[in-house]
Amino acid sequence: MDGNSFLDLTAAFGVASVGHTNPRVAVAVAEQSQKLIHGMGDVHPPAIKAELARKIAEKTPGDLGYCLFGSDGADAVEAALKTACRATGKPGVLAFQGGYHGLTYGALAVTSRDDFRAPFIEQVPTFARHVPYPKAQDSLEESLRLVEEILYKDRTIGAVIVEPIQGREGIVEPPRGWLSGLRALCDRYGVLLIADEIFTGWGRTGDWFACDAEGVVPDILCVGKAMGGGFPISACVARPEVMAAWGESRGEALHTSTFLGSPVGCAAALAAISEMETRDLPRRTRETGAYFKEQLVHLHEKNLNMIAEVRGRGLMLGLRLASSALALRLVYDLLARGIIVLPAGSGDVLEFVPPLTIEQEQIDWAVKQIDAALGQP
Ligand SMILES: Cc1ncc(COP(=O)(O)O)c(C=O)c1O
Repeated sequence: MDGNSFLDLTAAFGVASVGHTNPRVAVAVAEQSQKLIHGMGDVHPPAIKAELARKIAEKTPGDLGYCLFGSDGADAVEAALKTACRATGKPGVLAFQGGYHGLTYGALAVTSRDDFRAPFIEQVPTFARHVPYPKAQDSLEESLRLVEEILYKDRTIGAVIVEPIQGREGIVEPPRGWLSGLRALCDRYGVLLIADEIFTGWGRTGDWFACDAEGVVPDILCVGKAMGGGFPISACVARPEVMAAWGESRGEALHTSTFLGSPVGCAAALAAISEMETRDLPRRTRETGAYFKEQLVHLHEKNLNMIAEVRGRGLMLGLRLASSALALRLVYDLLARGIIVLPAGSGDVLEFVPPLTIEQEQIDWAVKQIDAALGQP
């Protein structure tokens, strides 16, 4: 508005992974707009929708590959919850404290944050139970024991929904081995594992998907945000046997929406994924992220009274500060210095989730600004 330029360390809610207004995405959107802007999602699906579904099947782990498209992340979560219910015949879902899955009513039922739930609590569905989400330093065994206790006792639970790293809660990483432990428990109790990778997916953590780090293949995967390169498109991706629970269409789809699998969104997503592949963004993110984290660790060592912890991996990093007041002051000070950054969790964590295309000089400059802002009275 005032002609200033900013370095965006938020990727605008983790969306602009291939950069803002990536030229390849922009061209793909323009070209598709000349051909077909709107298609009849599930009635006469345009070819480009099948092309994107095939690409998603290629990039996602294991035999995941059957897609139900949506526009927002919450759409993908709704589709995942319904798919799990159809596949297991069980309505219950185990979710985690601090988890964020979106704000439509199904998603809100598994989201745990009280500030979002409380004003609508009389309408929020009650099929979900929440258990503590472990931090990196917590006991893996104790956390899994709590999950197992519930899966053992409550046979109405058909699915577990989890963020491999909790994003909005302030970049909370569970102990290593926890996700594979969760997978094993789901197998033992015949429960489906839904990985919500709407934030962590598409290279953000240094792997194509955060689940890949432990070789975990969920039964259902939710993706969105970065997939469309800025265009709103999401997908609930499931294993063929799980998705088969929807049965053959009898003419009227049980779950659909007018703009499902928008041709322009599919074109944008294909271009964004192609950009990620061409530039090998997951590998690049592993390296750039390690460098960024190292710089933040140096800042921590220099400012032990103000910085409590550095956490996360890839370009999904968090700086937990001594107080939320300090975090908020830094958000404003950094904005004045030309850096966009947002607080997360209970407001005491600065979240660093920049475009995956960020350059080392930009990281160096940002860290210098954070250092200077910390030193400001
Ligand atoms: C892990 C996760 N799931 C779901 C959502 C909801 O996505 P949307 O805001 O696109 O509905 C978000 C959004 O931040 C998210 O981080």
